[in-house]
Amino acid sequence: MKTASAQYKGPLYLYNLNKIGCQYAKLRDYLPPNFQILYTLKANSNLTICHKLAQLGCGADISSTGELQAALKTGFSASEIVFTGPGKTNSELAVAIEMGIGIIVLESANEARRLHGLAKKYGKKQDVLIRINPLYRKSQSCEIREKASSCGNSDPNSVQPSLKSQTIVSISSKFGVDEDKAIEEIAVIDSLENLNLKGIHIFTESNVLDYNQLLDSWTNTIDIANRINDQGYHISLLDFGGGIGIPYNAVDTEFDMESFGQELPRIFDNNPYPYHCIVEMGRYMVGEAGCYMTEVVDIKESLGQKFIILDGGVHQLLRLSMKPASKYMEVLGKNGDYTQKATLGGKLPTPLDIMVEDVMVPEDIEIGDRLVIYNCGAYGFNHSLTNFALHNYPAEVAYSDGKMEIIREPGNIEDFFLNQKLPFATNLENEFKEHSAISNQQSAVNF
Ligand SMILES: Cc1ncc(COP(=O)(O)O)c(C=O)c1O
Repeated sequence: MKTASAQYKGPLYLYNLNKIGCQYAKLRDYLPPNFQILYTLKANSNLTICHKLAQLGCGADISSTGELQAALKTGFSASEIVFTGPGKTNSELAVAIEMGIGIIVLESANEARRLHGLAKKYGKKQDVLIRINPLYRKSQSCEIREKASSCGNSDPNSVQPSLKSQTIVSISSKFGVDEDKAIEEIAVIDSLENLNLKGIHIFTESNVLDYNQLLDSWTNTIDIANRINDQGYHISLLDFGGGIGIPYNAVDTEFDMESFGQELPRIFDNNPYPYHCIVEMGRYMVGEAGCYMTEVVDIKESLGQKFIILDGGVHQLLRLSMKPASKYMEVLGKNGDYTQKATLGGKLPTPLDIMVEDVMVPEDIEIGDRLVIYNCGAYGFNHSLTNFALHNYPAEVAYSDGKMEIIREPGNIEDFFLNQKLPFATNLENEFKEHSAISNQQSAVNF
């Protein structure tokens, strides 16, 4: 961390590729052999990270043609790619078929009909899953924890007792088809000869630390699949999506993968139908492997509240529903107690740009200090408001086996102008080009 801070100026993401290797190894070691592990590119589609996960042996979960290209570029094999997500257009589906990707997860009977037409045109029979919105689910995502977890592993010494997850009625969803309509939709898919329905996809939980919650949820998925088989539709593949959580404080323990792995075979015991299974992991795979580093540029007070203004903001790290996650941070080089309450604000000219409120910072924090926000390797770089106010993209740096390398240069101002034209201002076109050249030189000096 210190070396990176000394070596690279400007805001940046720093990733530890070795940590990604450890996370993958835990999944591989503890999941049963009938489980295939996919990496969900939407968590972080940096090419170095994708390449690392492809090398480790993962398949890929992609949700766009861009992610498909990133996956293919970095060594995932097409047959081990699963295309998930709503709103797939005909041209995206056609590219997927042409590339020979393994499985397409259908979101509706309409999507099935469109895909069928395309598969027929290409003379292919495409393997598909149907995504189902279950009638009941476990209570949704865990809250972001600031101290001992309310929904993490049950720790007898924990200050707060662990909450039991509850079964709740599912809400309407733009994802997939409702469980009570699934058989109708499956009948449609089954009648389309260029589609091969292999199974179902159900993903309702996110950032779960209590493995029992996932076991309950996956058991529900198995029950749903069994009922579909009972009705004569032969399905053999279950895609459980993602959902394994990571701690966002210094107190919570990690998801107990070992116990999860020991308990998991139990939910398949004596099941009347054999299943192959898929998991699509994002947060668990890369979340803890990344941190965001930036500098304090101003310190001020307003109506008694202390503001730390950073050379960063929500254009580089936006976690709308997870703001408190950014309390898991450190001011480098300050060893004193964190006794001052402050709000971390970014540099964007909008009140939206508050990274976190009521975070404790050291008494002697000062302008120029570097601040590190932990555990933002997943849904960090890829989830931010990159175009707001035209501040550059942050750099990305990776550490692996004792070596540190830059894996994405900081953005150029020029990037924001890409694909734009000035057809109504011919004279401006030339000035525009000159200014772009100057500002690019400036940003290179800054880094
Ligand atoms: C379809 C699908 N699969 C997998 C994931 C990854 O989930 P997680 O990051 O919880 O592992 C997501 C995340 O949004 C998703 O939409």
